[in-house]
Amino acid sequence: MTVEPPGPERMARSAPTAHETARIAPSQLAERRRADPAPTLLDVRPTEERRLGHLPGDRAIPLPELPRRLGEIPRDRPLIVYDHTGEEAIRAAALLAQQGFPEVSALSGGLDAYAAEVDRGMPRYEREGDGHLVVPLPRPATGCLAYLLVDPVERRAIVVDPGLDPAPYLGLLSGGGLALTAIVETHSHADHLAGHAALHERTGAPIYLSPRSPASYPHRTLGDGEELRAGGLALGSFESPGHTLDHLTLRLGGRIFTGDSLFIGGCGRTDLPGGDPERLFTTFRERYDRLPDATIVHPAHFGPKQGLPEGTVSTLGTERATNEALRIRDRAEFVRYMTEGWPPKPADFDRILSANLADGAPAG
Ligand SMILES: [Fe+2]
Repeated sequence: MTVEPPGPERMARSAPTAHETARIAPSQLAERRRADPAPTLLDVRPTEERRLGHLPGDRAIPLPELPRRLGEIPRDRPLIVYDHTGEEAIRAAALLAQQGFPEVSALSGGLDAYAAEVDRGMPRYEREGDGHLVVPLPRPATGCLAYLLVDPVERRAIVVDPGLDPAPYLGLLSGGGLALTAIVETHSHADHLAGHAALHERTGAPIYLSPRSPASYPHRTLGDGEELRAGGLALGSFESPGHTLDHLTLRLGGRIFTGDSLFIGGCGRTDLPGGDPERLFTTFRERYDRLPDATIVHPAHFGPKQGLPEGTVSTLGTERATNEALRIRDRAEFVRYMTEGWPPKPADFDRILSANLADGAPAG
């Protein structure tokens, strides 16, 4: 028996392969969503990944369930399929096109590319760290930013600088089936009540602080050059004093979590207890200057509440080019910059600081 090569007609009727599936770039997605009729967005990731963040207004059907749930997807409008990296979405889009859905496309590069190019607040895989997730958890009302770091394979997580209400972290942990291995405070906060005590109480996860922390509650230490491991996550640490004496900067692959040392377009004040502008200058020159421009910067504060831009992520290269705190190369000039023209100290900073350093949940 001879096998005929497919003629033009057979080609037209055969299912599109993954190679032929239409793709749209992340930058086109916002434009396509404004079109009439608006496309259906379909998330085909596993439920536990979706719980860490997704596009608003979308639908969710994990890829393995897609063949038996086709009836849930509208056929009267274009369909954009997405996942985290773009690979499964292409397979899903090919399947949907084969099933007769019109105008199916896959989001090229997935949410990961969308987070990098369009919405930096979305969770994305940490490519250089074996597929780890970094989930920024901003609190716009206060301008504070916590982070959930996840190893999605071993289902381990670390929370950095949690806010007072443990609910968002507990929701993500249980939703993702994650075990919390560690809670890390980058420094002793004097401007807001910290959430390590409540989260520790609910999860039993140990709290890690700099060995220089004056905290009186039980904790473990994470010193200069040490590494904290949670599943496949390896969170490095180096001392970055200046905002406080006990300040740590954390490293995960090509990312740094700068706490209140460096913000986007600014830096942490140095006039609260333990602060020292000279130390901060040394931190910038002797620590941050050694890191490459491509290093991704995740600060602990952002937005108008803190007199900062809305963005929550940057790179060291961008900050070196645009952030006055890093651009000033003269020590005396930097000390002047840090001591003149700053807003008044936060109300109750001494009470907040002592509450954060005390044993158990802070009062009031
Ligand atoms: Fe702080």
